[in-house]
Amino acid sequence: MKHSMHTLKALRDIAFDLGVGKHPDLAAMARELGRVVHRDGAALNEGLKELRTRERGFERWLLATRGKPGVSILVMAWPANHATPVHDHDGLWGLEMAVHGALEVQAWSRDAASGELSLKGQDWLGPGDATWFDADAGYAHRCRNLSRHDTALTLHVYGGDLAKYLAYERSAEGDQWLARPQRAAITGRLSA
Ligand SMILES: [Fe+2]
Repeated sequence: MKHSMHTLKALRDIAFDLGVGKHPDLAAMARELGRVVHRDGAALNEGLKELRTRERGFERWLLATRGKPGVSILVMAWPANHATPVHDHDGLWGLEMAVHGALEVQAWSRDAASGELSLKGQDWLGPGDATWFDADAGYAHRCRNLSRHDTALTLHVYGGDLAKYLAYERSAEGDQWLARPQRAAITGRLSA
């Protein structure tokens, strides 16, 4: 446990160090965070074992927040097969990294005028791989745990407090997208 706390602290420090400015260098942040996950992944997963075995559904755990410049860091637990709706991030920049297991990430783009969403591509993230996005109200994505059996863990860094966001779903007729306001509930705090 002690070693995993040391690792969580290292991840937090990287996110705080590089999460500065209006357009942080998220490629550099992904590289540095990925290096730590590759190096210390086994200890980290052991330390976060409780999150992987609780079986309480999709959970968001807060690791750290900073006010100015705004950064929030979370660890999320994804039950087997769990998929999010297409969702935005309240216009914040963000980075999402697989820590344990693998995630599919579909990138979507929302046209501000028409509200129409279009699929831009998809990525598959294994441990230490990340996807990131600049502060952009039109960016949305949909993520899914690729495992049918195991809980996945991911690390998330956002350029502020992501307390609310929009989830998008097609109308029953399928001819338009409906935006549904969501509250991002926190299950608890992790200490680093
Ligand atoms: Fe997301």
